Amino acid sequence: MKRIVILISGRGSNMQAVQQACRVEGWKAEVAAVIANVPGAAGLAWAASQGLATAAVDHRAFPDRQAFEAALIEQIDRHAPDLLLLAGFMRILTPGFVGHYAGRLLNIHPSLLPAFGGLHTHRRAIETGCKLAGATVHFVTPELDHGPIVIQSAVPVRTDDSEHSLAERVLATEHVIYPRAVRWFVHGELELAGNLVRHRGGEPQWLLTS
Ligand code: GAR
Repeated sequence: MKRIVILISGRGSNMQAVQQACRVEGWKAEVAAVIANVPGAAGLAWAASQGLATAAVDHRAFPDRQAFEAALIEQIDRHAPDLLLLAGFMRILTPGFVGHYAGRLLNIHPSLLPAFGGLHTHRRAIETGCKLAGATVHFVTPELDHGPIVIQSAVPVRTDDSEHSLAERVLATEHVIYPRAVRWFVHGELELAGNLVRHRGGEPQWLLTS
């Protein structure tokens, strides 16, 4: 049984999608804990209502990033994770933290990386005149929003899209691709060679939605 710990900062809809797929699809895995850096994060209440272990490590309570991450690592490692997921976790992580979980740390980012790392991805895609937008699940490396890509989803950018309407369309695809990537990982179906990730069984590592 693989143990998954999920880090969130807010509503946690991706965390919910992973937890539900894990349960409904009967993965050989369990969500061992959900941890937030924001004590009032809505996703924590949902996780607790599902009987999951939860914790908050408030970054504002620490003098610097190092001290915050040390406390976070202590909370996470209590649950001995095989896989750590960033699911809307909105803190930049140091190379030390990333190195501690090397090879077992995944993130979902709301753009087609390497385009639009960082914040306001949907606004920037619209302003740039992109015709496609999307989301990326990737292994986390020290460089922000980089790292080997596991799966991507793409959706059209409509001429009447607002940042909000585009975000909603992309989010619906995130709820498909993140559980898929996690299932592949926990079932040992991913092959990592340098910067390239392959699904051993050759399942499509992309999702196109019109
Ligand atoms: C998601 O769209 C996720 O891709 C994004 O935050 C949202 C969290 O939603 N993550 C990032 O922007 C990380 N750079 P959720 O809390 O409902 O899963």
